[in-house]
Amino acid sequence: MHSAKNAAAMLTRTASHTARTVLSKFYSSVAQTPRYVPRRAVMYVPGSDQRKIDKVAAVAADCVVLDCEDGVALNQKEAARNTIRATLEKKRSLFAGKDCSVRVNAVSSDLWKDDLASVLASQHLPTTLHLPKVDSTRDIDMFASEVVRLLEGRHLEEPLRVFLFCESGRSLLRLAELCEHGLGLPPPLLLDGFVFGSDDYCADIGMTRSSLARELLYARQKFVSVVRSFRLQAIDLVYIDYKNLAGLERQSVEGAEFGFTGKQVIHPCQVDIVQRAFSPSPKRVQWARGLLEAYEKHQTQGAGAFTYQGSMIDMPLVLQARNVIATSAAQSSSTHTDGDLRAPSYSSPLA
Ligand code: COA
Ligand code: MG
Repeated sequence: MHSAKNAAAMLTRTASHTARTVLSKFYSSVAQTPRYVPRRAVMYVPGSDQRKIDKVAAVAADCVVLDCEDGVALNQKEAARNTIRATLEKKRSLFAGKDCSVRVNAVSSDLWKDDLASVLASQHLPTTLHLPKVDSTRDIDMFASEVVRLLEGRHLEEPLRVFLFCESGRSLLRLAELCEHGLGLPPPLLLDGFVFGSDDYCADIGMTRSSLARELLYARQKFVSVVRSFRLQAIDLVYIDYKNLAGLERQSVEGAEFGFTGKQVIHPCQVDIVQRAFSPSPKRVQWARGLLEAYEKHQTQGAGAFTYQGSMIDMPLVLQARNVIATSAAQSSSTHTDGDLRAPSYSSPLA
């Protein structure tokens, strides 16, 4: 009994670790390793608001999320999914150079199946689906089997990316299990990362939200540590006081330093600051290059530890410098051109 259980656990793990390689075999037209899609600013646009949707082309966010969930009033849900479907069908060019995402309602609602049915009936699929309020592996399974059912018989050019949301105490406690389970999603689905839904999390555990978000320090750090351990993208909280750009910058830099790969935004005025904060600065890239050169030199001289710009450097700092170079290379090599929704293949900058 025990060994059968262990074997099953091992199979799940193996499936998780090889999921990305296996996927490339399902899609003849995609590169061996699925392309890396940077998502520094993840901008929500309410699906029911045509005026805001029409603004998307002029906003330089890496990722635009057409929302069916909490940005849409209950009596506008039907209108939102119809507008999103029509947008995907007719206005694909709006998303040139961006990750075109749709956030459906949670599986705990009675709306998500209609959202999926509408969005996935479109001839042009979104690049990514976002599933909010994921509390258990069962939520992931229900979502996955519905998507697979709806896409049966369709040939996809590349995997349909997925982002899952952690927005409750229970979800945070089970996050490692959810990551592992999500990495075993069936084709054509491919888990790219998790989003931290801080406001729902605050509501769930009875936390009072403050502008400095000190109360969220533990949850954010636990979230990012777990998600990045699985080499998935980790998207930080929304800065809701959107007119306070100095506060936004402070929190964005903090999130990038914690290891988040991007941040949710709700207004176009937040995009530039966030994208800058999640890109290594030219100064940081120069620091990393110099450090790696110095490392090579000291290696040949037999020195494992040395001094660079006044600081002690050994292997962990070398690895951090390599991360900076890899992130910068991934972001610049996937700079999109008009009309081209694909970016070069790249594995996770930390892989
Ligand atoms: N996407 C696209 N365009 C947006 C936008 C968004 N998220 N937010 C604002 N704009 C546009 C507005 O339409 C406006 O253009 P217009 O004057 O030509 O109509 C311009 O940017 C300036 O907007 P502003 O007047 O400052 O804000 P607003 O009062 O129209 O909207 C919010 C403020 C917060 C309601 C709006 O930004 C919003 O709905 N954000 C998304 C909220 C959301 O999705 N929440 C759920 C996820 S957390
Ligand atoms: Mg939420």
